Amino acid sequence: MSASDNHKNVYVLNQTNQLKGLFTIIRDRTKPRVSIYLDAELSSDTYSGNDYAVNDTIIRLIVEEGLNHLPVSPAQVTTAQNVKFDGVVFDGRICGVSIMRAGESMEQGLRDCCRSVRIGKILIQRDEESQEPVLHYKKLPEDIADRYVLLLDPMLATGGSAMCAMDVLIGMGCKQEQIIFLNVIASPEGLYNVHQRFPKIRIVTAVVDEGLDSKGYITPGLGDFGDIYFGTK
Ligand code: PRP
Ligand code: URA
Repeated sequence: MSASDNHKNVYVLNQTNQLKGLFTIIRDRTKPRVSIYLDAELSSDTYSGNDYAVNDTIIRLIVEEGLNHLPVSPAQVTTAQNVKFDGVVFDGRICGVSIMRAGESMEQGLRDCCRSVRIGKILIQRDEESQEPVLHYKKLPEDIADRYVLLLDPMLATGGSAMCAMDVLIGMGCKQEQIIFLNVIASPEGLYNVHQRFPKIRIVTAVVDEGLDSKGYITPGLGDFGDIYFGTK
């Protein structure tokens, strides 16, 4: 994990062969739905990353890294060896907020780490012509201003949808420092736009791609994440 060269508060997962292998599967246009969502193509000997849905594996890595950004306090316990161990406990309360639809694909990964976590929802759809985000619906924990917020959306393209969601959270009283945006694929443009507007919001992403095409899609990207995940195309 490293802070991006360009922006403080942007953290990109280490580009290990494990991560590159998983992305090679989910980016493959010949089998995106199978690989992103279902256990499939189990080969006998070769590790293919498919024994656990690939998308879930990547998201789990991102969630784990996001949790590393929460504050902790020192805590000492005594082990069964009757020896003191100096550890830590997490401070403060958290919640998740998913940007529907595609952000919902990250909820299970968060629940796997924090079983009873509260999860709010914000429905934002990008207008495919104008590429502008449209806010349709929100339902968030009432005390969200007192919590750290793990904001979930796998795709950061122009950044419009993420910034729209961040505006909602700030409008509910959240401070930028409380918000950690968890993301699978980011474009440099999206990172720049979000960071310019909300420099104190931390962004954790698995990979930064080359850029955007004329329709505002991430390249090389993987296409429309929501459509692939939910099987609507
Ligand atoms: C996708 C994606 C982001 C947004 C990214 O959602 O999940 O929310 O586009 O693009 P942006 O950074 O340019 O705003 P989309 O609006 O396609 O809806 P979906 O989740 O239903 O697929
Ligand atoms: N939304 C997606 O799902 N993919 C992109 O590349 C851009 C926006």
